[in-house]
Amino acid sequence: NNYIVIMAGGVGSRFWPMSTEEKPKQFLDVLGIGKTLLQQTVARFNTIAPAENILIVTSEKYKQLVTEQCPELLESNILLEPCMRNTAPCIAYAAYKIKGLNPDANIVVAPSDHLITNEGEFIRIVEEGLDFTANNDTLLTLGIQAHRPETGYGYIQASSDVDGSKNVQIGSEGDSYETMPTVPSVSGGVCKVVAFKEKPNLETAKNYLAAGNYFWNSGIFLWSLKSILNAFESYVPEVADLFQKGEAVYNTNKEQAFINEMFPTCINISIDYAVMEKADNIYVQPADFGWSDLGTWGSLWEKRERSEQGNTVVGEEVHLFEASNCIVNMPTNKKVVIQGLDDFIVVEDNDVLLICKKEEEQRIKEFRASVMNKK
Ligand code: GDD
Ligand code: MG
Repeated sequence: NNYIVIMAGGVGSRFWPMSTEEKPKQFLDVLGIGKTLLQQTVARFNTIAPAENILIVTSEKYKQLVTEQCPELLESNILLEPCMRNTAPCIAYAAYKIKGLNPDANIVVAPSDHLITNEGEFIRIVEEGLDFTANNDTLLTLGIQAHRPETGYGYIQASSDVDGSKNVQIGSEGDSYETMPTVPSVSGGVCKVVAFKEKPNLETAKNYLAAGNYFWNSGIFLWSLKSILNAFESYVPEVADLFQKGEAVYNTNKEQAFINEMFPTCINISIDYAVMEKADNIYVQPADFGWSDLGTWGSLWEKRERSEQGNTVVGEEVHLFEASNCIVNMPTNKKVVIQGLDDFIVVEDNDVLLICKKEEEQRIKEFRASVMNKK
């Protein structure tokens, strides 16, 4: 009954210029370990569900990349969107298609571009979460303890009323979060969510961090098919209506034609704004499995091995003098000399050289847009 839906249609614009529209981050071997992020994601889920229950939703233009990188998947499990409409339509498409395959399905929805270092713990948590969602009409998300005021994430306020049976302490002993309040849990590690706030501004994120009882949304969701279809019908009926119209053609040879015609008429909205901020049956399962969103160069810098000066370098011919805490990525092996930079990103790829302060990395989207518009 367990189905996995992997979302792989984003463009990874904050990882530019390595990640491009032609080949976004999920299709790259970002860590240099011989497997792309998408391949790692599929392999991780393949221990939880058989390949025939794993679906990938992507853009039509990435069809070839997906089939090349994931030969173990059925062709009919690669769902192709004719244009980008963000994650709510992507999830709705998969959900209505799965309804035609197995109306009692339990679904895990996951991004294709994250790093998870502790696979054993990941599998344990997902299996526990699937048990919970199979028996409760809830929308469950895996929550990561927030530890910096990151503005690129969704924030989850965990319940602090005291009717839970077991208490979960956020933060581990000895770290700087001892003052965090305990939040009650209703089943194993699962807590009721009071509020979900997608991508707060910096000031709000700092307040959340100070309050303590907030998790980051990992973007990994677990729910029964029935619960997510109910949520679409209640909170974004215009999206539910569109996808419902195709119920007779999903899993037939008319599916793609229907999607190609209907999809562009759908609104553009993420699942976080469309459902997670609105629903009142949201639960969070606190999780600690070495998660990183790998959303930006700075997060890659955190994950890579660093020199004594805190630099992490890719490239045969990079010469550093009085440089510290930099991420330098020169896959072209150009001869580069860097002097006196602290906390910088220096990356060359796809004909672009980017030099930017690490703390300004959220603006790479904007820089990319400015370069693209000149072309
Ligand atoms: N098929 C498809 N179609 N996939 C998409 C689309 C789309 O239009 N847009 C994005 N995706 C995929 C991306 O490739 C990625 O794997 C996943 O969906 C999430 O999209 P992002 O664009 O990376 O979202 P985000 O990082 O800004 O925010 C989400 O993830 C954060 C954690 O990484 C939210 O869920 C946040 O709340 C969360 O904290
Ligand atoms: Mg992301």
